[in-house]
Amino acid sequence: MPTEPPTSLATAAPVAPATTTASTPTTPPPTPSSILPLDALFSNPVFAGGIGLASLGAAAAFGRRALISGTALLRRQMLVNVEISKRDPSYPWVLQWLAQPRDNTGFLASRLTRLRNLALSTTTKSINAPGAGEGPTHADFRVQPGYGRHIIRHKPGVYIAVNREKASTTSTGTGEPHETLTLTLLWPHRHVLGEVFTEAHALAHRFNEGKTVVYCARRMEWAPLGKPRLKRKLGSVILDEGVKENIVGDVKEFLAAQQWYTDRGVPYRRGYLLYGPPGTGKTSFIQALAGDLDYSVALINLSEVGITDDLLAQLLTQLPEKSLLLLEDVDAAFQNRRQRDADGYTGPTVTFSGLLNALDGLAAGEDRIAFMTTNHIDRLDPALIRPGRVDMMVRIGEATRYQAAEMWKRYYGDIDEDGTGCQRFLTRLEELGLFGQTEDPDVPARHTSTAAIQGLFQFNKGDMEGAIKMAEGLIPRTFEPEVQTGAVKSPA
Ligand SMILES: Nc1ncnc2c1ncn2[C@@H]1O[C@H](COP(=O)(O)OP(=O)(O)OP(=O)(O)O)[C@@H](O)[C@H]1O
Ligand SMILES: [Mg+2]
Repeated sequence: MPTEPPTSLATAAPVAPATTTASTPTTPPPTPSSILPLDALFSNPVFAGGIGLASLGAAAAFGRRALISGTALLRRQMLVNVEISKRDPSYPWVLQWLAQPRDNTGFLASRLTRLRNLALSTTTKSINAPGAGEGPTHADFRVQPGYGRHIIRHKPGVYIAVNREKASTTSTGTGEPHETLTLTLLWPHRHVLGEVFTEAHALAHRFNEGKTVVYCARRMEWAPLGKPRLKRKLGSVILDEGVKENIVGDVKEFLAAQQWYTDRGVPYRRGYLLYGPPGTGKTSFIQALAGDLDYSVALINLSEVGITDDLLAQLLTQLPEKSLLLLEDVDAAFQNRRQRDADGYTGPTVTFSGLLNALDGLAAGEDRIAFMTTNHIDRLDPALIRPGRVDMMVRIGEATRYQAAEMWKRYYGDIDEDGTGCQRFLTRLEELGLFGQTEDPDVPARHTSTAAIQGLFQFNKGDMEGAIKMAEGLIPRTFEPEVQTGAVKSPA
């Protein structure tokens, strides 16, 4: 029986390709339903263009980010930044150092170091000899980098980028805006930073040489009170015989004994109380002592309104370096204790306990030399006068014969060579009973102050006869309660 031909070639024919396809084992063909819309999508020029643009954008963004992080990395690797806050003591030193005139000649230096934003700092000094009174002044103008970015040439090949910025935040204490100074150098030049700070410090030191900086409380911080003043010589303050030497000796001994205190774990603090009538040289002596020790003075007047317990405590914990703390009118704190309101509020002033705590409470600073002054020793509480708070109490009293003679020598020593003028002056003061003793029953025993003697001598510059003639003016004046006559404005 003949084999039956395939029923239909036509039906077999389409199978053949299917068999061949099956013979090459590849992934199953995508279903037409999944291929067709994507195809259509990509063949859509708008879509394809969009994708192209998006990928270009992504690539650009990636490139940019890579560039930024690359630059940042490079900056980190290649540059070194130092940020100095305005609160740091080195801030004014570095600014002053930046104000130094520099040699900016040369192609690169003259183009790179053009300062466009400048600030002027002016220093003035008297042309006359110190103490010669008001006279012409010499002004020194210096240009320093203002806010913004600058480049300065420190030395050939070494450039420093400076960024002086004023922050939008303000210091809680002073209400002044925060400020920072950032110095940027190439990494290989980083050793120059040490040089910069040493030079800046030395420059500041030179600037203050022969001067005493007085700090006072401005809001919650210490701030220099005016320009540094010329050092007052210790010899220009005339205290009674041996008094000055006694205090100076004690302070110097204390300064030399720091290790002793550290070894024993005792706070390195010493307190002095100078008391006595007004105009006897208490403040002048402390200022001169600071000058002699090359210290500054950190001054707080306790009778000032606005000095509160908190402020006092805070200021005492952050005393400027190498400074003598001077608390004037300490009796004010005791006064305030008595004058408490019914609700216990004393007003914005220091209280007794506030002063004691600031001096040696837990919050008290460690290293400190404190000088306290008062005209009213009788108002103080014994709690203040105990070791740790006050270690040495000295009365700086009315002018003695010794002081009057010493002051005379300072003012007229050169014209009164044989000292007879001095003798006559002292005799005159004795006649007036000004040394607290009198032989004449009609003349009361009284006292005068060294400030009054200074006033007399300054009035009679170079004229000792005039000083002797006017010695009567040293008699302390008493002011009677005024009887009001004439035009007095009073409420209706
Ligand atoms: N012992 C003194 N030697 C030299 N100058 C003096 C002396 N006492 C006072 N003077 C002069 O008198 C002025 C006032 O002195 P100072 O301010 O030091 O007095 P004080 O004792 O602190 O007075 P107060 O108790 O009122 O604060 C200064 O100009 C100072 O030069
Ligand atoms: Mg004083």
